[in-house]
Order: sequence, then structure tokens, then C-alpha cells
Amino acid sequence: MPRGALIVLEGLDRSGKSTQVDRLVARLNAEGYRARLHKFPDRTTAIGQMIDAYLRSTAELDDHAIHLLFSANRWECHSAIEKDLADGITVVADRYAFSGIAFSAAKGLDFTYCLSPDTGLPLPDVTLYLTLSPETAAQRSAYGAERYENVDTQTAVRAQFAKVAEEVARWHGDGRWVEVSAEGSVEEVERDIWGAVKGVMVRVGDEPVGRLWE
Ligand code: TMP
Ligand code: MG
Repeated sequence: MPRGALIVLEGLDRSGKSTQVDRLVARLNAEGYRARLHKFPDRTTAIGQMIDAYLRSTAELDDHAIHLLFSANRWECHSAIEKDLADGITVVADRYAFSGIAFSAAKGLDFTYCLSPDTGLPLPDVTLYLTLSPETAAQRSAYGAERYENVDTQTAVRAQFAKVAEEVARWHGDGRWVEVSAEGSVEEVERDIWGAVKGVMVRVGDEPVGRLWE
């Protein structure tokens, strides 16, 4: 049985990620692949509840401490993800370690420091980075009330995502980080995402799961 693929969607707030992960899971199912959605942060765990309180500003945490909690929130489910992949189930992740780096580095934490706690996590077979111009983002509905949902932070995060893309290429070669314009209609973006994913589904069957930053 071919293994499942690990497919990550990344992007700024209001890039349409949540809509697209749902559509991607539905499309994979329609094409005959078993697929499961995993959202990061996973707010349902004990660690996830601490993260949720921090994001809603009902708790304050040191920048390093919250960075490590986001990473721990990925580590606490890496075995479940690896089991799914081995069982032939494709995992679609709404954010992953790349958000962890971009958001913390945007606050001024050292980039290499930000990268290190996720070392060894399952390596995404492909990461689709939804891009949106600041102008289009501003035209979409207002930001929510959570921490980081403001123009200054999002601009700084965008710059860090560009560095993350370079780092992925340096460590893991070309083709694992794919930019998808999120400017078009939901259907256009969905079509472009599927265009990038369908080849990955064929390719991963005989490849072992890699390790991030290794
Ligand atoms: P969400 O809006 O997709 O639920 O993500 C919550 C916020 O947490 C979002 O602003 C991005 C941020 N974030 C981090 O700062 N570090 C991380 O590791 C992850 C996964 C998200
Ligand atoms: Mg959000």
C-alpha cells in the first residue's frame, strides 16, 4: 500500500487557507485518497489550550515559552501523523512549523533559534504557500481580535516567510515549497492547489517520509 502524503498549507491570515484545506480534503476523497485534516495550533490538547489563551490575550507568556509551546503542540501529535502516513492516509495540515518560525521571528526572536525545536518532525512532501498582496488583504473582511491579526505583524510575518522558503529549498531542495496566488476566486485557487498536489500524490508512494531540517 502506498503511504499517505503530508501536505501543508501556509499563508497569512485572510489568505483563504481554512477554506482551501477543507476543499483539498474533499477533493482528495473524491479522487479516491483517504485524507485527514490537522489544524495547527491544535487547540484541543492541554498545550493547545495554553496557546489558545495566549492568542486570545487572556494569558501572557514569554516569547520563547510560547514558541516552544507551538512546537510542543506539533510534537505531541507527530506519532499520530506518522501512523496515518504509514496507513496510507494523507494528512493535510492547516499551518505547520513554518508558521512557527515566521510568526516568532517576526517578533524578533533569532531565526535559527526559531527553526531548531521542530527539527526531526515529519517533513511535508509539499507546502503550498498562499500569497496575497497587502492591498488585497486589506480589501478582505476585517481581521479578528486575536493576537497577530494586524497589518504590521502580518507585514513582518510575510518577510519571514520569504526566508523560510529559502531555508526549505536549502535543506530539502526545490519543489517542496510552492507559492500559490490567493488573489483569484476560491475555485481558481482550488484548481491551482490541486494542480500542485496531484503530482505529489503519485510521487510519494515509494519515498520514505523525510525529517524536517535534517
Ligand atoms: P490560526 O488562526 O490558523 O488558528 O493560527 C493562530 C495563530 O497562531 C496565527 O496568527 C498564526 C500563529 N501561529 C504561531 O505563531 N506559531 C505557530 O507555530 C502556529 C502553528 C501558528
Ligand atoms: Mg487566525
